[in-house]
Amino acid sequence: MKEKLEQLKKEVLEKLKVIKDIQVLRDLEIKYLGRKGELTLLLRQLSDLSLEQKKNIGSAANDLKLELAEKFKHAAELLESEKKNDFVDLTLPGEKINRGRLHPLTIVQNELEDIFTSLGFMILDGPELESDYFNFEALNIPKYHPARDMQDTFYVTRTNTDLTRTNADKTASDLVLRTHTSPVQVRAMQKYGAPLRCVVPGRCFRSEATDARHEHTFYQLEGLMIDKDISWADMKGVLEVIVQRLYGPETKLRMRPKFFPFVEPGNNGEVTCFICRGAGCRLCKQTGWLEIVGSGMVHPNVLRAGGVDSKVYRGFAFGFGLTRLTMLKYNINDIRLLNGGDLRFLEQF
Ligand code: DAH
Repeated sequence: MKEKLEQLKKEVLEKLKVIKDIQVLRDLEIKYLGRKGELTLLLRQLSDLSLEQKKNIGSAANDLKLELAEKFKHAAELLESEKKNDFVDLTLPGEKINRGRLHPLTIVQNELEDIFTSLGFMILDGPELESDYFNFEALNIPKYHPARDMQDTFYVTRTNTDLTRTNADKTASDLVLRTHTSPVQVRAMQKYGAPLRCVVPGRCFRSEATDARHEHTFYQLEGLMIDKDISWADMKGVLEVIVQRLYGPETKLRMRPKFFPFVEPGNNGEVTCFICRGAGCRLCKQTGWLEIVGSGMVHPNVLRAGGVDSKVYRGFAFGFGLTRLTMLKYNINDIRLLNGGDLRFLEQF
């Protein structure tokens, strides 16, 4: 019995130490000292004891009851006085809340998304960890083809934690960090079929030594338009609208042949430099032109990989360097600033 009393005392004192709320305190007092409280119930059991024990323990229990009642009273007073100190002066000026802001890449991405949705393009996403198949093969870049050398790739090896895989493919390097957003062209065709109009902004990776102009992580915006009578003129028309919305109505677009395995013919799109308006300056390296987009007519092999009948449908595809557009727009001279997380840089936008 004595032990029970000790135990109960310890319990109550411990709980009192952590209580912050007056109502919880009241409830606790009832739980232990109330008419049906634990201490009261213990006291009732005294009748089963001998006279000697009754005297002994009875007075100890009564003392404890008084002591605990005192402690509860004290704790209540303490909480009440703390509450008074909680007084809030509503006339004080509020704390300044720092608002976040958009990353420059996000600003440019949003701008492009607005233009493309106004032309009826869907905005799509694709995986950053991509299969070798979608990143290369489906885009008409077979294994061991020299075109693979155009993109320094992070090949990713599966670890053998995936127990469902056989020994033979545990080391197979069939995953890559996507080197461009182009794989989503094929994914989109497989999912939505033709006709199709979509753009895909996203993060890409290449195994580059980094410096002011190279980074292992960068952003592109891919585009694809498939329909029955799509021609080179449609491609030039759409891209012209885009660059004129970006850089003003006088902006010219010129296209120069360039090889990309997934288009035929393919080209590099260049716009009149928006700083010197074509006269030649440092930004455009005195050429008057800025290279901002690769594009071309979708290769039949790529349409086939997407499950689209190349006898019926044709299309064009393009890839903007989103990182490059952002650097041009804000005159950012070091690509590493974009992923560096330095607030002195980010707070300027
Ligand atoms: N994927 C190319 C690259 O990363 C860019 C590109 C070029 C995309 C031509 C296209 C295209 O869709 O038609 O270099």
